[in-house]
Formats: sequence, structure tokens, C-alpha cells
Amino acid sequence: MKRLRIGLAGLGVVGGGLVKLLEGPAPKVGGGAFEIAGVSARNRTRKRDVSIEPYAWYDDPVELAENPEIDVLVELIGGSDGPAKKAVETALKRGAHVVTANKALIAMHGAELAALSETHGGALKFEAAVGGGVPIVKALRESLTGSRVNAISGILNGTCNFLLTEMEASGHPYAEVLAEAQRMGYAEADPTMDVGGFDAAHKITILAAIAFGAQPDYEHCRIEGVDDVSLTDIRLAFKLGYRIKLIAKAERIGAGVALNVRPALVALDHPLAAIGGALNAAVVDADPVGRLTFVGAGAGAGPTA
Ligand code: HSE
Repeated sequence: MKRLRIGLAGLGVVGGGLVKLLEGPAPKVGGGAFEIAGVSARNRTRKRDVSIEPYAWYDDPVELAENPEIDVLVELIGGSDGPAKKAVETALKRGAHVVTANKALIAMHGAELAALSETHGGALKFEAAVGGGVPIVKALRESLTGSRVNAISGILNGTCNFLLTEMEASGHPYAEVLAEAQRMGYAEADPTMDVGGFDAAHKITILAAIAFGAQPDYEHCRIEGVDDVSLTDIRLAFKLGYRIKLIAKAERIGAGVALNVRPALVALDHPLAAIGGALNAAVVDADPVGRLTFVGAGAGAGPTA
């Protein structure tokens, strides 16, 4: 059997997790079918959980993407433009397959990358870009092809959900909980993308494009983050029978689709109210299947790998 040769661009938390996964016990399907044929990252010598010594090193991810020996480029660099986009375009233009967890890239340039994939024949897959280990992209793309999706509501940012959960549980204000989350490595040193709602907006943009058969339209997503949510808001909401969650929503309205991300009151008996900590979840309302709820780890080395 021909082994599929993977070029891995980006060796952060998820990239390291992928090396570990591919080196570990063979999965049930496709066991032994993959090999890492080259790796690339910003810093070769950075301390990592996994050794990259056995693998061919590339300073430039575009050079890795150009290599005809690579069957699949796995892009885990991040960012909507720059080296991530260049490497993905390069691989797709020569008909190689691309797997990416880069939500910003797909939300901003998904349509043009999909066109490259269709023109040149390489697949473009991005399951891990939304909801980490939760297989919602494939469910919307394939399993629900015969259904008409009316709305998707999701908790798509683990950092925000963790902060809101901790504020309620500890009674500590936003700034204190964020500082603690940063100390523990849950939140980024610069948390803007997460707490500002932008990361969730990238993700709901992607889900909406698939669910409604539309072009990704990030620019028209209305975005509000969690940075203004106070303890008083959380306590009052709870007294009235609600939890405050950062909800990313895509909804069919007439012939169009409305996209928004904002802190919302979620009734305590709604499935999203029970999603605590860094978990992700999405509720899909569709005809004729009705309501479906997807829940799981939305981030982290193992699940995203
Ligand atoms: N920063 C993201 C989150 C990681 O907190 O959910 C996964 O996209």
C-alpha cells in the first residue's frame, strides 16, 4: 500500500499533537498509511514535547508545499494571510491535498481556496478549524446534505466559555479570571482574538457557508466579545433563570443569512446552558431532522490533531 506523505507546516501545540498522534498506535482505519515527509516551523530549536529530529526540515513552508514528494500539506501555522495562505495556495495549485485547522484562513479566503482545490483536484479539508475534535464540519457537509438548516447556535470559543464559567463558579471578576487563565496557559498572552469574539466569528462564518451553501462572509458578521460581561450581569441572569454564554449564531432570514457573535442569555434548560469550561458545542436546527447537538473538546493538542 502506498503511504500518504504528509508535509507538516506549523509545530505549535496542535502540530506537536499531530506528530505524537502519527507516531502513536495506528488508528483503526488507515493505520500505517501515513508518514511525515517534512516539517516546517518558525523556530527549529524551540523546546517541544516531541522530537522533530527524524524529519526533513524546511525553513520555508512554501518550499515544503512545493515539494512533489508531499501528498498532503497539513497547515497549522495560523493567520488569514502570510505564509499560511501562500503555502496552502502553493500545495493546491499543484493538485496536492490540504488539511488545515486555520479558521481565519478559511473564513477569509475559503471561497478562493475551494476554487483552487476544484480546479486542480486536491482536496481541501478543515474539520479541525471549527470545534477542534467535534466533527461538525463533516456532519453539515455530508450527513445533513438532505436537510435544510434553519439555524446554528454555538459555543465555539473555549477560552470565552472557560472565563464565563469560572466567573460564575468563583465569583471573581473578569480581569482576575482572565489573568489566572493566562497564568495557567488557557488564554493567550494577547487574548483579543478570543475574548473579542473574532475567533468565534471565523468559526460561525465557516459553518454558515457550509450549512447554507453560501460564500463565507466574515465581513458581515456582527461581533461583540465577553470583555464587558460583569459579575453582576452573570448573577442577575442566573436569578432570572439564564446563563450568559458567548453565542455564535447563523440564521436563515428570508433569502439571506444573519451572522452574529455576542454574549447572550441562554435559558438554563437549553442544551448550551450546560456547556461548561473550555468545551465547545453547537446546536443545529434543521428540517426534517429537527434539533441536533454536537458537544466536545474544541481545542487542545490531541482533539485538534
Ligand atoms: N483559541 C481557541 C479557543 C482555540 O479558545 O477556542 C481553538 O480554536
